[in-house]
Parts: sequence; structure tokens; C-alpha cells
Amino acid sequence: MKKNFLNLGRQPLANSFLVSNSKKTLSKEFFYNLNISFDTSSYLVSVANPVNPKYQYTDKYAHRASESITMRKAFAKIAKKLNQKYSPKIIMEIGSNDGVFIKNFKKDKVIAIEPCKNLADLTKKKYKTYPNFWNKKLANKIFLKSQKADIIFSANTISHIPNLKETFDAIEFSLSKNGVLVIEDPSLYSVIKNISYDQFYDEHVYVFSALSLSNVIRSSGLRLFDSEKLDTHGGSMRYYICKDSATHKQTRKLDIIIKNEKKAKLDKLSTYIHFSKQVKKSKDELIRIFKKLKNKKKTIISYGATYKSSTIFNYCKIGKKLIDYVTDTTLNKQGKFTPGQHISIISPEIGMNNKVDYAFLGAWNFKKEILAKEKEFLRRGGKFITHVPFPKIISK
Ligand code: TMP
Repeated sequence: MKKNFLNLGRQPLANSFLVSNSKKTLSKEFFYNLNISFDTSSYLVSVANPVNPKYQYTDKYAHRASESITMRKAFAKIAKKLNQKYSPKIIMEIGSNDGVFIKNFKKDKVIAIEPCKNLADLTKKKYKTYPNFWNKKLANKIFLKSQKADIIFSANTISHIPNLKETFDAIEFSLSKNGVLVIEDPSLYSVIKNISYDQFYDEHVYVFSALSLSNVIRSSGLRLFDSEKLDTHGGSMRYYICKDSATHKQTRKLDIIIKNEKKAKLDKLSTYIHFSKQVKKSKDELIRIFKKLKNKKKTIISYGATYKSSTIFNYCKIGKKLIDYVTDTTLNKQGKFTPGQHISIISPEIGMNNKVDYAFLGAWNFKKEILAKEKEFLRRGGKFITHVPFPKIISK
């Protein structure tokens, strides 16, 4: 049975940046209510009422996976590992974004699926790219008469697709006999541990645990056989999945991960009720910090126009009165306005100037990369604010 445990309030689409802050544009902005639920039988944590993907993955989709050095390196590393371990003849990626993963493979081996047309356009010249949503129909079109995929890779995408049953059925159909599905998604264990409630937004329809994922794939004839922890996106998991009949043996690493999830009680509703109380405390403390600094007339900006910060700013109602502007390296976010709170976004070259006293780490998952880059800001007395694992100020 599905039980709602966290209400993050009225939220806009987190990747829907506004081209203007005119009354007309703002009046058309789409909002929905972000409630998070726990399924007491499958242990699946999900957005209670998912938004229709057609509104989210449009030809204006802003996120570019290759913007970050951390992600570019991480994808190159896993591509090499998969090549060495499985020597795949056909590799398919579901949600290929700007090609950051597939560019590590020879073009004749790759099939890319990317529903956002602006992103599919970036890879289609070099790689076979389908500008479509992943579903049974597309799987049939690609694989009914062709060689099946030895590797299906999907990073930060499966957790975005509302219809999991159809998704996994289509994957089962598309995998070769001993083929491997490798997925990467944010870790529920990390969300609970870090009180990183900003992992919940419209696109993260699910935040998986190994426990819940093994339950949901079962009815599609799939099983989980290995898993590993990742540092990316503030704590993710990589899952290795195969057909029931494949020869891959369940690893000890996976046994330990499942044991730890049970120890953390990720299969109990009480865990999530406790979590929601911690989220409320985190919100109150973050607002207190912002207001205290603003009362002292400090200049506060936000670093990274991330989907995560969209959840935070709209849940905590942190807007233009508290934040002067947001900086982001992504060209197509610059000059736009953040969803819901309509704070202007500018380039870090202009924004990270001597007047800035505090910068909220909207991209806290890239903290290491950012602190290394912003040594000068810290040296001259600039400080960062973060909310993970609890709201605090970082100075060095
Ligand atoms: P995310 O929404 O996947 O976390 O994307 C991170 C965003 O943060 C992306 O829009 C790029 C931006 N960013 C910066 O502006 N500066 C940085 O140093 C890093 C690492 C990211």
C-alpha cells in the first residue's frame, strides 16, 4: 500500500527555466504538488502523482551531462570497465543526453535513445539515435529483427520513467541472452543519511534502493546480481541486472548492500516518517541562516542552477529577497530565470565577483570540484552555505 510521508509543496518543473520574468510568461508556469510516498509491499519510494513526461522532456531540456568534469570522467571510467568486462558487440543507452557516455565507444556499436530533440540532435550525426521515449513499441522497432544488446546502460534515466513495468519488460526483450542492464540512479540510502530531500523533484519519479529495485524488476523476468556505490550526484548506486536465465552470479557486494539497507530500515515506513521530520528541521534552519545573513546586509548568491536547488528554494520559499542571483556555467541557463522563484541566472565569470559574501551550494554534489575551483573566493573570505547533511556555513 502506498503511504505519503513527505509533502514538499507546490513545485514547478525543476528543469524548466523561464526565458523572461514578464507577467505573461509567469502566468503560464506549470506547478504541481510534490508528495513523496512509500510502498509498504515493494518498498518503492516515489513521487505520489508523477507529471506527464511530455511536459518535461521537451526540445528545450536544459541539463547537459557533459557540463561537469566529474561526470565526464565518471562516464569514461564506466565505459572502459564495461568494455573490458563484457566486450559488448551492441551497446544501447537509454537517455543518452549530449552523448557523454556513448562517445567512449565505436560508433557502429552504439544505439542511443534520447526523447529530448535538442539533445538527440547533438548525437544523431555520429551515432544511431532515436529521438523517442523508451517503451515496448520502440524496443520492437529496434530489436525485433536485429541483434539484441549486450549492454544496456542508463544513467539517471530509469528513475525518471513513470511506467517501470513497461520499461523493464522492454529491456528484457532487448537484452541478449547473457546481456547486462547497467543503471545508475540516486541512492535512497544516501538521501536518508544526508537528509538530501532535494533529490526529490518532478523528474525523480523514483529513488531506488537495491531492495525495492529487486522487487520491481522481478515481474519482468529480470534479477539484480551486482551493485556498487558511487559518489556522483550526491550519492548514487550502480545496479547490474540480467535476465532470470542468465549465468551471472549474485555477488557478495550486493549481499552486503542489501544487508545494510535492511539495517537502515529502508523497508519500514517509520524510517520515512522520521525522515520527514528531519526535512522540516533542515528547512527551518536553512531559512534561519539565510534570514540572519540578509539582515546583516550580506550579498548571497546561489552556485549552480540545479534541479536540486529548485526543490529547496520552492519548498523553503527562498526567493529574490534572500538570493541576489544564481550563477551557472551552462550557456542555455544563463540569462534565464529559476523555476518557481524566478531568480536571475548569470555566468560565474560575472557573478562570482568581489561583492559576493556567501554562495549557496546549489550544486552541492560537486562540492569538491567547486571548492577547488573557487579557492580565491574562499581565500578572500567568501563562504559557502550548504544544507547537506544539515544547514551550515563552509569557510576555509
Ligand atoms: P545538476 O542539476 O545535474 O546537479 O547539474 C549541475 C549544474 O550546476 C549544472 O547546471 C552546471 C552547474 N555547475 C556550475 O555552474 N558550476 C560548477 O562548477 C559545476 C560543477 C556545476
